[in-house]
Parts: sequence; C-alpha cells; structure tokens
Amino acid sequence: MSIQNNNAFNKRKYQISIIGCGYVGLVTGACLAKMLNDVVIIEIDLNKVEQINNLDLSIYEPGLTDILKDTIGTNLHITNDYSYVENSDIIIIAVGTPQTIDGKPDLSNLISVTKKLGIYLSKNIFENPIIVVKSTVPPGTTEKIVHPLINEITKDKNVICCSNPEFLSEGNAIYDFTHPDRIIIGSNDKFASDTLLNLYSEIACPKIITTPKTAEMIKYVSNSFLATKISFANEIGNICKKLGIDTYDVMNGVGLDHRINNYFLNSGIGFGGSCLPKDLNALINLAQINGETPYLLQSVRTVNDKQVEKILQLLRNHYPDLNNKRIAILGLAFKKDTDDIRESRAIKIIHLLLENGAIPICYDQYAKSNVQNIYPNLCCVDTFEDALISADACLIMNEGYDEKKLKDAFSLMRVPIVIEGRRTFIEKSIENVEGICW
Ligand code: UDX
Ligand code: UDX
Repeated sequence: MSIQNNNAFNKRKYQISIIGCGYVGLVTGACLAKMLNDVVIIEIDLNKVEQINNLDLSIYEPGLTDILKDTIGTNLHITNDYSYVENSDIIIIAVGTPQTIDGKPDLSNLISVTKKLGIYLSKNIFENPIIVVKSTVPPGTTEKIVHPLINEITKDKNVICCSNPEFLSEGNAIYDFTHPDRIIIGSNDKFASDTLLNLYSEIACPKIITTPKTAEMIKYVSNSFLATKISFANEIGNICKKLGIDTYDVMNGVGLDHRINNYFLNSGIGFGGSCLPKDLNALINLAQINGETPYLLQSVRTVNDKQVEKILQLLRNHYPDLNNKRIAILGLAFKKDTDDIRESRAIKIIHLLLENGAIPICYDQYAKSNVQNIYPNLCCVDTFEDALISADACLIMNEGYDEKKLKDAFSLMRVPIVIEGRRTFIEKSIENVEGICW
C-alpha cells in the first residue's frame, strides 16, 4: 500500500462510461463531467434516463441539478446504449449490490453488467480500457469475478480491472466526491493506478494505492465501523437514560478526544440506508463463511434492531393495546433531507404498527411517494401539522423540524404523547416528550 503524490501527472480528458445511474453513478458522472471529462452514464431503466435528461431527479443532492444543467448535452450524456463503451478508456461500474433476504450481497447486477461489458469491450478502440468497480462488493470480487469474466469474453483485448470504492453519503454526495477524506485505488496494474491518480489529480486528499481486495475491504470496514459507532452511542444512550444522564452531553465530552471525534455518536432509533445495514451484514457473512464468528459486528446489528423494538415498547407503555390508535409518524426516509427509504427505521415501525392494528398517519417532505409505492393504502399527509391532528401519539423519526412550530403543533393532538426517535429538541424535559435514549 503506498500514498502517491500525483503532481507529476498532466491532467487530460478521459472518455468515461459509467454503468448505473443511481445515487452513486449519477453523482460520480456529474462530478467527473464537471472536471471536463467526456462522460456517458448507461442506465438500464429508460424512465430514469428520460427523467434525468429532463432534470426530473428522483434523488435530492444539493448542487447536483446545477452541475447537470451545465453538463448534460455537452460532455455528459445519459443513455441506455452500451455501444458508448466501445469509445471509453475508463468504464466505471456503479450498479446496486443490495443484500439478499439472508443478508448476503446480491452480485447479480454486477455479473450481468460485466457480461454485457465484455461484449462491447471486444470492440473498444483503446489498447488498455480500464474497468473500475465502484459498487460495494465483497473483497476478492474484482479479481476473482469481474476480471476473469471480462477476460473470458474479450479474449484478445487486455482489459484491466481495478477497485475504487465510493464514500458518498446521501444529501452530501457532491461535497463528499469533491472533498473526500481519501481516495482508495485497488489495482495491481501501474497503468490503471496512474490513470486513476490522473483522473482525480485535482482532488486534494491522500490517495491510497493498494490491492483490489484491500480496497474492497476498506469500504466494508469503513461502513461497519460507522455502524459500530452508532450502535455504541445507542447502547450508551440506553444506559444513560436509566441513569437520568443526557447521553448527548456525555458524547459531547467523549467526542472531544481527537482519537474518537464526535461524528456518528448521535444516539436514536438507529442506522438505516442502502449502505450501513447492507455492508455490516455482508461483513458478518464474510467472517462466517471464512470460519470467524464476528461477535462484535453481530452485536452492532442486534443493538440496531433492538432500537426499533424499544421505541414500540415506549409507545406501549402508554397504549398496551395499539388497536385503532392514530400514531403520527414524522419522517419516513432513512435520514432527513432524502427521499430514500431503503432500510428506513420508520418503515419497520410502520409495519409493526399496522400488524398491531394501529393507524399510522405519515409525513415526510421527500419520501411520501416512495412509501406509498410500498403501502398504497397508508395515510400520508402533506404537512406535519396534518399528521398531528387528533393523533393519539407521535413518533419523531427524523431531525430537521422547526422546534417551536413542532412544539406548538402538539396542541393539535388528541393526546400529546411524543416519542423522539431522533433528537429534535435542544430544550430538555419538554412536557409529554420522551426520547428513545434520553
Ligand atoms: C450502488 C450500491 O447500492 C452501493 O452499495 C455502491 O457503493 C454503489 O452503487 P446506488 O447508486 O445507491 O449505489 O445504487 P442504486 O440507487 O440502486 O442505483 C443503481 C442503478 O443501476 C439503478 O439506477 C439501476 O437501474 C441501474 N442498473 C442496475 C443498471 O443500469 N443496469 C443493471 O444491470 C442493473
Ligand atoms: C453512509 C456513509 O456515511 C457513507 O460514507 C457511505 O459511502 C454510504 O453509507 P449514508 O448511508 O448516506 O452514508 O448516510 P449516513 O449519513 O451515514 O447515515 C446512515 C444512517 O445512520 C442514517 O439512518 C442516520 O440517521 C444514522 N445515523 C448517522 C445515526 O443514527 N447516528 C449518527 O450519529 C449518524
């Protein structure tokens, strides 16, 4: 593993294809286009292709629309046509690698895309096209699955494969791309490493050159450690609540230690999203199939799962029988300022409430339509005030509310019982408001 100083390289425009136009592919393509590369994003979903070309984005990323306005139609194209791969010297794979029902990574998208690429790469105009696996995959995937498959199909073309995991967090992805803490390049080939160093030469940060499987592992371990910090914060929060101590005051003190820092120590309903749960499960699975019992990682998952049960118990303390109780759910996405409901804690709670005959009244500024795709009969309203009208209780499942407006709106409830799944009120000990860990 070596850290490179890449001032020696002359920046040149690359011809880049990106496979997959999701959160990662679209942000990556937009930012690389802004860096004056020629970028084509190849997306299987034709509706998505049309929507994005019309700037009708289904994802909310500050700054993304402006970049797309400047680049789509000039040096950024969104299409479903794989033939563009024939003219690309860098091909980035950014398709989803979701978890299967038993928590294992589903690589079917990656494998089908790799097979398609093999066909078109046979006609690639460059001597050494580079495939960059940006999707989060188990260590060894690039070298043992992608590379052999590509070589099998493009027999006479020397296609190089490397790993370049992303560390983009939703709602902050443009900034995360342009101001990363580090860039990880997993490559056994100097030409590929040098090419990626050159591609990212204007981004000032440590750049690590390592093996592909080490790069893949860095991604899994990074997300699993973030999940560990959150579950640690939640376990401490649960203990502090019993001791009558404000865990946020504790973590403010703990986080000042530069070795710990105060990020990802906010206790609450726990972590969701398309990455932390999936990558934690994948790492647990990876340990198990290699004969290791990941006691700590399993506990991180258990603590996270138990937080959902805990908030339901707090509700039951008021209503042992939830049948026909109107429960306002404020926040449906896995975190604030996004429409993404993947592994959202609120969705898990809604499922449990419906199972117990309760009537969830749901509000989220962005995620309403995504939730109604799963629960078409669910009552979703357009303001948080509407959700609170005649409610028997309220669960606050995401941050970002105006404290005063929210507090005033509690008077709309039939019974003002409020449980915070995410810390909303800085003011402590508000009447009828209880926190899951405070
Ligand atoms: C994905 C993974 O979820 C993440 O773990 C990884 O780090 C990067 O890639 P994301 O962009 O959130 O991140 O995935 P998703 O929102 O599911 O987008 C993937 C896109 O690929 C979708 O638009 C899907 O339609 C598209 N796709 C999938 C293809 O274009 N071709 C395929 O064969 C399969
Ligand atoms: C995460 C990683 O941050 C990012 O680096 C990686 O590339 C993808 O996965 P993301 O899932 O978009 O990004 O959101 P993040 O901001 O990390 O939050 C993940 C979950 O943890 C959310 O549900 C959030 O509410 C929760 N969280 C976060 C906490 O419960 N407490 C915290 O202190 C921080």
